[in-house]
Amino acid sequence: MSLLKINGLRKSFGGLRAVDGLSFEVAQGEVLGLLGPNGSGKTTAMNLISGALHADQGSILLGTDELVGMPSHQIARRGVARTFQLVRVLGGMTCRENVEAGMAFRPDHKFGPQAYDEAMQLLSVVGLSDVAETPAGDLTYIDQKRLELARALALKPRLLLLDEWLAGLNPTELQVGIALIRDLRAQGLTIILVEHVMDAVRALCDRCVVMFAGTKLAEGETAAVLAQEEVISAYLGAPHV
Ligand SMILES: Nc1ncnc2c1ncn2[C@@H]1O[C@H](COP(=O)(O)OP(=O)(O)O)[C@@H](O)[C@H]1O
Ligand SMILES: [Mg+2]
Repeated sequence: MSLLKINGLRKSFGGLRAVDGLSFEVAQGEVLGLLGPNGSGKTTAMNLISGALHADQGSILLGTDELVGMPSHQIARRGVARTFQLVRVLGGMTCRENVEAGMAFRPDHKFGPQAYDEAMQLLSVVGLSDVAETPAGDLTYIDQKRLELARALALKPRLLLLDEWLAGLNPTELQVGIALIRDLRAQGLTIILVEHVMDAVRALCDRCVVMFAGTKLAEGETAAVLAQEEVISAYLGAPHV
């Protein structure tokens, strides 16, 4: 069953069609890889789904709700959470407060001790218990990424959008990151993963959509898509084994 159905999605910046007639579906509980070279429109597509940008044309159905035309806070209330390619945390607030802020858009918004307990639990999920009361601005880059994930999870999302969340991790951190996403997947969360780290894509994604110049170049099961000639020549550069 599809949780998300994107049909004929289009977004231009001036004369540039950043997303140009994109269509794909994401099944409930699926981890979908959204791949493609830099500038192919992946982040724009994520911005359209989360409502950070408004589509010029097309449809984005979450269940039966049309997200095109809906303001981003209403999309968040329907359970679409995201992390950003360029990390954005509230630097002056503590890690715990950042996560509590992430609960604000939830229909069952928690306050006080309940919010505290839940925030601490989410910080423990991402491995940040020790820095719960540290200002987010003092964290390392990697820990800020962890915090952003905890804040996204605070929304209790139905759909989680991860935009290059694994980028810039060292090999050890990468394994931890992959394990973390695998746990989320095992809990039944539906995820769209924009990612260049092919080991992570292979380990995590059931299916992939490959974008090129705003359009869909390929779609299908991960191993099959990564073996396609067009995908190799347009994106991967060389056969990936
Ligand atoms: N806010 C914007 N204004 C103008 N052009 C943009 C904007 N955002 C993205 N673009 C352009 O749209 C294209 C797709 O960008 P993006 O979605 O960020 O690609 P990707 O995430 O695949 O690298 C690029 O050519 C980029 O320069
Ligand atoms: Mg991007």
